[in-house]
Amino acid sequence: MSTVTKELTYDVADLKLAEKGRFRMEWAGREMPVLSLIEERFRKEQPFKGIRMAAAMHVTSETANLMRVLLAGGAEVALCASNPLSTQDDIAAALVAYYEMPVYAIKGESVDQYNSHLNSVLNIRPHITMDDGMDLVAMLHTQRSELLGDVRAGTEETTTGVIRLRAMAAAGQLRFPVVAVNDAQTKHFFDNRYGTGQSTIDGIVRATNILMAGKNFVVAGYGWCSKGIAMRARGMGANVIVTEVDPLRALEAVMDGFRVMPMVEAAAAGHIFCSATGDIHVIDDSHIAVMNDGAILANSGHFDVEINLKALEARSSKITRVREFLDEYVLEDGRRIYVAGEGRLVNLAAAEGHPSAVMDMSFANQALAAEYMLKGGANLPPAVYDVPGEIDRDIAALKLRAMGINIDVLTAEQEHYLSAWTLGTGH
Ligand SMILES: NC(=O)c1ccc[n+]([C@@H]2O[C@H](COP(=O)([O-])OP(=O)(O)OC[C@H]3O[C@@H](n4cnc5c(N)ncnc54)[C@H](O)[C@@H]3O)[C@@H](O)[C@H]2O)c1
Repeated sequence: MSTVTKELTYDVADLKLAEKGRFRMEWAGREMPVLSLIEERFRKEQPFKGIRMAAAMHVTSETANLMRVLLAGGAEVALCASNPLSTQDDIAAALVAYYEMPVYAIKGESVDQYNSHLNSVLNIRPHITMDDGMDLVAMLHTQRSELLGDVRAGTEETTTGVIRLRAMAAAGQLRFPVVAVNDAQTKHFFDNRYGTGQSTIDGIVRATNILMAGKNFVVAGYGWCSKGIAMRARGMGANVIVTEVDPLRALEAVMDGFRVMPMVEAAAAGHIFCSATGDIHVIDDSHIAVMNDGAILANSGHFDVEINLKALEARSSKITRVREFLDEYVLEDGRRIYVAGEGRLVNLAAAEGHPSAVMDMSFANQALAAEYMLKGGANLPPAVYDVPGEIDRDIAALKLRAMGINIDVLTAEQEHYLSAWTLGTGH
């Protein structure tokens, strides 16, 4: 293990985990060829020379590979968690020990510790913020506004963060431009759908070891994440019920072959529940009131507000941690309800988060969006911006190439046909 210099400050669980973390980081890196190509270019071009970055992300093996790429590009980066339960302690240790990065993240940290870690990361006086859920940007604008003068731009990883940023911009309070990485097609089409789909099922299975086949599995929402969860739960033999508030998405779920009904009806039928809506109290007291004994509740939305845990607690006479990531609530009427991963995003709390092959594209967007903002985007007025379309298409092309898949290209005749309005019936 490399030695850590005295000046480096950090707060991780145990530096002795570093070697394990490095092996896992390298394993994840094998499935991240697009990020590796970007790393090679960054190493030569040094787009982040002299740039300080503050990142609040899930501290996973995939994030560690993104950090490696930013460091290769010349950046100075400080990292903390974007959720108190999502840190992989061995990865946090590896980044400190092998990359001398100031990392502040411990799995299971208290909310106070989580906030103090956000604060520590901001001490780097960032030019660029890299956020996942907007807690870092919120703290910067409220408690550390003296640092705003140095900040040139930011990037945001997830749907909930983008929604919060848009609300902030609409209120005239956002003070620098931010790229909505989540909204790139090479991000949410793949990460939210296939990444969350697979890893959420993985999290529920690791937390409970429950057999999916034959169970009624209720998915709240039919957005990008919940579509993936519904698809994968069905693949494991569950009988999937979807709940929605958006008629278009509800209709899509119906046509995809799922049963759709209000949550209060689904609540009475379900064995396993999983929310991924970005909304509050999607599983509420009135739903808990009619649930079956033994119902299992999980959430994969960004914040732990989707299940009304306070209401569940108020109905309970006893709460016991029965497995590492599973709490049993015994209700006053004797029914038992189980909550996985404390209602925090179950794929990161109880499993390892998204597989690296999808994070390859999400984090390629992060790296290229940060570079884009420094190259000129930083002169944009404070607002939320899309990832430029060329970056999105380049990432898709690179990913296909890395997978060894070729596709057709338009012939000159086809290009002409597709751009001409005169060629209709009979031509
Ligand atoms: N677990 C992860 O690793 C992970 C990854 C990506 C995104 N996320 C988070 O997951 C959440 C969803 O993201 P998305 O990209 O799927 O968003 P999305 O906007 O595509 O979908 C959300 C869906 O939830 C529906 N909805 C809202 N309130 C509802 C309610 N009360 N009942 C039923 N449906 C309701 C909306 O109509 C919408 O269709 C966000 O919080 C996002 O930040 C988590």
